[in-house]
Amino acid sequence: MKFSIPAFALFVFSAAAQQVNRTQTNGWGSTPAQRHYINAQQALTVINAAVNFSNSINVPNDIAVFDPSSQLVAFLRMDNAYLGSVDISMKKAKTVTYFNGLFPSYGLFNRSQPGGDLFGIEQTNGGLVVFGGGQPIFDPNGYFIGAVGVSGGTVQQDIDTAVHAAQSIGTTITM
Ligand SMILES: *[C@@H]1O[C@H](CO)[C@@H](O)[C@H](O)[C@H]1NC(C)=O
Ligand SMILES: *[C@@H]1O[C@H](CO)[C@@H](O)[C@H](O)[C@H]1NC(C)=O
Ligand SMILES: *[C@@H]1O[C@H](CO)[C@@H](O)[C@H](O)[C@H]1NC(C)=O
Repeated sequence: MKFSIPAFALFVFSAAAQQVNRTQTNGWGSTPAQRHYINAQQALTVINAAVNFSNSINVPNDIAVFDPSSQLVAFLRMDNAYLGSVDISMKKAKTVTYFNGLFPSYGLFNRSQPGGDLFGIEQTNGGLVVFGGGQPIFDPNGYFIGAVGVSGGTVQQDIDTAVHAAQSIGTTITM
């Protein structure tokens, strides 16, 4: 399978360079040296920010925070949040961490559609989520420290909630 994420990144994610200093990333997302690990306190702040935003739009969400090695750091299922969204929120975050924080979960959306050169990619890795709600988290120095996945509302609501949550401790990528 032809898999050309770097070209894709340059084409689609040029806006990201304005938000995150990627001069040392060699075009593949974060390098190992650039990965710092979100800690439990930071993850709690992300969860709390997501809860606040979810309450403000009246959507009960499942919220997952993963570190750059795709390991779970924090998770909350808000009251009334869908059980089906537990797995979706986690897979949204993992979809981000599996690709070095290079793009939000929806970065794979177009190319995974029928006819796209990454058609079927969501079947890999035990299942990816290619629509919105997973956001990379960069600390104030631009280091990739983890990802947050939100599921429970519309895709746009999930994106808005995840962006807000990521920005509670740093920056993220939007397109
Ligand atoms: C980005 O990081 C590089 C390497 O640390 C540094 O030389 C450069 O000045 C930074 N650019 C911006 C815009 O902060
Ligand atoms: C959540 O909102 C409350 C009040 O609406 C505020 O006191 C609190 O600081 C907020 N927490 C976060 C993490 O945004
Ligand atoms: C997907 O393609 C549509 C139509 O070309 C475009 O408007 C949209 O920005 C693309 N979305 C992503 C995430 O690349």
